[in-house]
Amino acid sequence: MQAYIEAQNLTFDYIKQDGDVVRAIDDISFCVEKGSFTAIIGQNGSGKSTLAKNINVLLTPTSGKLLVDGMDTSDPENLWEVRRRVAMVFQNPDNQIVSSIVEDDIAFGPENLGVDPAEIRSRVDFALDAVEMREYRLKAPHMLSGGQKQRIAIAGAVAMQPECIVFDEPTAMLDPKGRREVLDVIRRLNDRGITTILITHFMEEAFGADHVIVLDRGVIRMDGSPEEIFSDPDRLKELSLDVPAEVELIRLLRERGVRLPDQIRTAAELERFICQ
Ligand SMILES: Nc1ncnc2c1ncn2[C@@H]1O[C@H](COP(=O)(O)OP(=O)(O)OP(=O)(O)O)[C@@H](O)[C@H]1O
Ligand SMILES: [Mg+2]
Repeated sequence: MQAYIEAQNLTFDYIKQDGDVVRAIDDISFCVEKGSFTAIIGQNGSGKSTLAKNINVLLTPTSGKLLVDGMDTSDPENLWEVRRRVAMVFQNPDNQIVSSIVEDDIAFGPENLGVDPAEIRSRVDFALDAVEMREYRLKAPHMLSGGQKQRIAIAGAVAMQPECIVFDEPTAMLDPKGRREVLDVIRRLNDRGITTILITHFMEEAFGADHVIVLDRGVIRMDGSPEEIFSDPDRLKELSLDVPAEVELIRLLRERGVRLPDQIRTAAELERFICQ
């Protein structure tokens, strides 16, 4: 396995104004494989966003190490190289949009880096296609739906040509349709080889990942494949998390004696089996 991101005993403390220390990440170690799709789940305050900000070097470890593509994020000399490789997309698309025309918004990042105009044009076109928003390129972002705005924010990240994108609850503010569209875009970007880290409260989104990390009060409680993680509903309940509805449905059907082949684990596979 080729590790793209590697945390070694990573700890992060916030120091509050009154001097109190909040340990948001507490001695965690994990690896994220290059090109993989990792979901990070955990209840509110478990340290997910703090971890995301450490990966993007908005924060650096209090102790321990975080390596991105082999570069130590604590070394100031690596700051720009890591930021060039890792883009971030946040929850609220309104806070990420800076221009009044969609394509200007997408061009903003590369323009700031001084990329040449012809190259910017081709990056913007590529990014618009990647999020399927080409027909909206001359529109005003504030006229778009939440899901469309989030796709523009993602296009802005894509235009930076990152190797990795960290999505911090990108679908949390969207309706089900917007959520589906944004998740489809994220999956397609991952299919193109972008190492993907998705922080989410939606268990069915995490179920589609290659790798799931469960955080709880700054500590990793579970780390494995979605099958491993979601086959332990009792453990998840202890951590105030659910199993995805499709996993529960398949479990209940088996429990009631419906004979389903072992390899069936998703709603799509179940549908194919029943309707074949
Ligand atoms: N700027 C800050 N100063 C002090 N403490 C903070 C700060 N930001 C976060 N924290 C604390 O650090 C811990 C982890 O917060 P974090 O935002 O990383 O959690 P999260 O898992 O992203 O939560 P959520 O699901 O609500 O987004 C929490 O106890 C939080 O209160
Ligand atoms: Mg958060």
